[in-house]
Amino acid sequence: MRENDHSVKGTGLILGIESSCDETAAAVVRAGDEALSNIVASQMNLHANYGGVVPELASREHLRNVVPVVRAAMERAGVSFEDLDAIAVTEGPGLAGALLVGITYAKALSFGAGKPLIGVNHLEGHIHAVLMEARQHGGVQMELPLLALVVSGGHTHLYLAEQQAEGAWRYRNVGRTVDDAAGEAYDKVAKLLGLGYPGGPWIDVLARRGDPLAVPFRFGPIKTRTDRQESSIEGKAAIGNSAGRTNFDFSFSGIKTAVLRYIETHGMREAVEARRRALAEHPEWDPHSEEAVALCDRQTLDLIASFQHAVVGNLLRQSFAAAEAFGARGIVVSGGVAANSELRRRFQAEADKRGLPVAFPSLALSTDNAAMIAAAAWPKFMAREFADETLGATPQLRLGAV
Ligand code: KG4
Ligand code: ZN
Repeated sequence: MRENDHSVKGTGLILGIESSCDETAAAVVRAGDEALSNIVASQMNLHANYGGVVPELASREHLRNVVPVVRAAMERAGVSFEDLDAIAVTEGPGLAGALLVGITYAKALSFGAGKPLIGVNHLEGHIHAVLMEARQHGGVQMELPLLALVVSGGHTHLYLAEQQAEGAWRYRNVGRTVDDAAGEAYDKVAKLLGLGYPGGPWIDVLARRGDPLAVPFRFGPIKTRTDRQESSIEGKAAIGNSAGRTNFDFSFSGIKTAVLRYIETHGMREAVEARRRALAEHPEWDPHSEEAVALCDRQTLDLIASFQHAVVGNLLRQSFAAAEAFGARGIVVSGGVAANSELRRRFQAEADKRGLPVAFPSLALSTDNAAMIAAAAWPKFMAREFADETLGATPQLRLGAV
């Protein structure tokens, strides 16, 4: 697509559209900084009945929601399609059918309104949600390079982020989970304990009532792909971290199994089932309600607190170790799990101790939204990184080189 094909108005206004998972979202953001609107239609209640996101249902809901959500975002911002400089959309990673709804609609709008189209990586969006807010509030000054922890239901990644001379951002993926994402572990453990969905907010709130040191969960060394290759070449068992190489990867499937084993060996199964039944009968009970808390005995609350303490400790250790190893001048935490209160408290305390700035998104921007997509699109717009009509959904889209 050639630049002069478009009517760029110089308003700095970008419409962002996000549909990668279970939220249909649209937002209008000016110059990557000022969100004029930020509309999110969540499907959480729909998927809660199934204990996880059902891809076919998600696509259908996006289809139903995308037009009214975009219309609401434009109305709330008080702008017309004519006023926009570009239309940005999440191209991946995410659910193929869900992504396609947003992409197809964004392409149609781009074509119809004669505005450039910008494809945005969802994970880059999460990082820019924080940077946008840090700039807006003029609070924490983030210097480059940054270490970004993106931690959600689908991802647990560490990126080293830098801005190029022409304004575009470049990323290096320096750590990743080798199995479950941290949010996935929260959701699975909550399910094992008969708590509601999504599990993160339940565990976050209930953990405040338990003893975080009651159950000593431990994270061992992680076998990387290279470790496994080396061990098969050498014909001996891999032992995790190879000497001389630092490993910033994560693994959360082990702690989930450890929680399951704890439930079984401590005779907690019946209590879990009773809790599951009670919560199914009372969908109005949330983790803050006294009725929900009353369903959890001391042993359960201690298990919940210990699980969270271990997960947050692991995220914290890996993030700060990577920041130190790569000379990062600040840490940015984003994604759904960045809403976690213990995580925020402990990251802030560690950052203060080291004199390293740390930034989180507001709660509204920590879950999936489109303001972050429009914000991440701004440097691409300035660098004229436009997509053409071949833009498609890339469910496994990666961010940055490894
Ligand atoms: O970023 P997000 O909205 O969607 C994607 O996965 O991309 O993240 C949702 C995840 C879920 O796994 C949810 O349990 C987790 O974020 N989450 C939390 C909290 N709030 C949401 N995890 C821990 N503590 C929370 N307060
Ligand atoms: Zn997300």
